[in-house]
Amino acid sequence: MNVKNYVRFEFQSLPENISFARSCVAAFAAQLDCTLDDIEEIKLVVSEAVSNSIIHGYASNPHEKVVIAVSIMDDDTLEIIVEDYGVGIEDVEKAMEPTYSTDPSRMGLGFTFMKSFMDELEVVSKPGKGTTVKLKRNFAVANKEAYA
Ligand SMILES: Nc1ncnc2c1ncn2[C@@H]1O[C@H](COP(=O)(O)OP(=O)(O)O)[C@@H](O)[C@H]1O
Ligand SMILES: [Mg+2]
Repeated sequence: MNVKNYVRFEFQSLPENISFARSCVAAFAAQLDCTLDDIEEIKLVVSEAVSNSIIHGYASNPHEKVVIAVSIMDDDTLEIIVEDYGVGIEDVEKAMEPTYSTDPSRMGLGFTFMKSFMDELEVVSKPGKGTTVKLKRNFAVANKEAYA
């Protein structure tokens, strides 16, 4: 699959950058044939992934780097990659279970939302090295019915 268009940006791991990140990704995704509801879903999954990097990856240490790369493939698949270089995840499969959280004050539904609003979710993580979350969703007109 070839890349038709992409953007890539990085920012400090500060909670005030979550809305910046989700708005940037949403503005880029708007060139696809997507509805306002689709855009809201994209914003939500980006918020979940970015807040995970900030809260869990860096344990709220504000001076670390989060990188986002967003691509549109030539079949109108949107690919969003959120990357941090934080603590990483010991057991990715367990972390992705609904309601699992290492923080008792949280709901543990971030990955569940990402999975349900996107076609594909891939998490690659190395303890002590960081976490990469790759999200994909196809916006080709022929696939619209799947989300109707
Ligand atoms: N980027 C990350 N770095 C380190 N740990 C993470 C990261 N993202 C998720 N996790 C781990 O996976 C768990 C589940 O994440 P999630 O489903 O978003 O639920 P929540 O954020 O409510 O805990 C988190 O509690 C955390 O332990
Ligand atoms: Mg979360």
